[in-house]
Amino acid sequence: MYGLVNQAMKDLVTSKFGSDKWSEICQKAGHPPDDFEAMTSYPDTLTYSLVGAASQILGASASDLLRAFGDYWVTFTAHEGYGEIMDMFGKDFRSCLKNLNGMHGHMGAMMPQLLPPRFQVVETSASQLTVHYFSTRQGLAPMVIGLLEGLARKYGDTITIQHHPKDSRSDHDEFEVQFQG
Ligand code: HEM
Repeated sequence: MYGLVNQAMKDLVTSKFGSDKWSEICQKAGHPPDDFEAMTSYPDTLTYSLVGAASQILGASASDLLRAFGDYWVTFTAHEGYGEIMDMFGKDFRSCLKNLNGMHGHMGAMMPQLLPPRFQVVETSASQLTVHYFSTRQGLAPMVIGLLEGLARKYGDTITIQHHPKDSRSDHDEFEVQFQG
């Protein structure tokens, strides 16, 4: 994944636990604790190793870390200068969700090695929608939950999410989003 992702993970860990913890995590993952080049694509195995090492060193499950990471990604990307792109592709939570493919497509013009996820959004009622998530990668569903929570907060919506993992009936993860109030 692009270094921007690993950089966000570094920022999240150092802001909450300090730079010593991040150094330990990098050491365990076999990576020097340097900054990542945001616009350089790194092997996915590095990102997964960082999450695994962080899980062991911080004593948190990978799933909890990915969820926190997804939430953090929304504010991190805004601070890193991608806020305008996000605003361009969504004026509210619903339209942002519907434009995620277009937004990642736009990013792909700047990041030629981007391997983005794909989303399909189906409105099931006035207060509920289903987000279908397709990815070539494994295990990132908790990150999607965090992303949805972070996005909803950004747009001032309160939501609850029910996750239907992929199984023998479905080849992809689904997230039922219920709007409150
Ligand atoms: C302007 C904001 C955003 C930027 C700049 C951005 C960019 C990226 C980048 C660089 C990656 C790594 C993929 C790669 O390097 O191959 C990624 C992955 C991902 N993005 Fe975004 N993204 C943004 C917002 C969002 C939002 C709001 C969502 C909400 C659902 C989202 C969902 C994901 C997911 C789930 C992945 C993991 C890759 C996978 O599932 O295979 N992104 N994005």
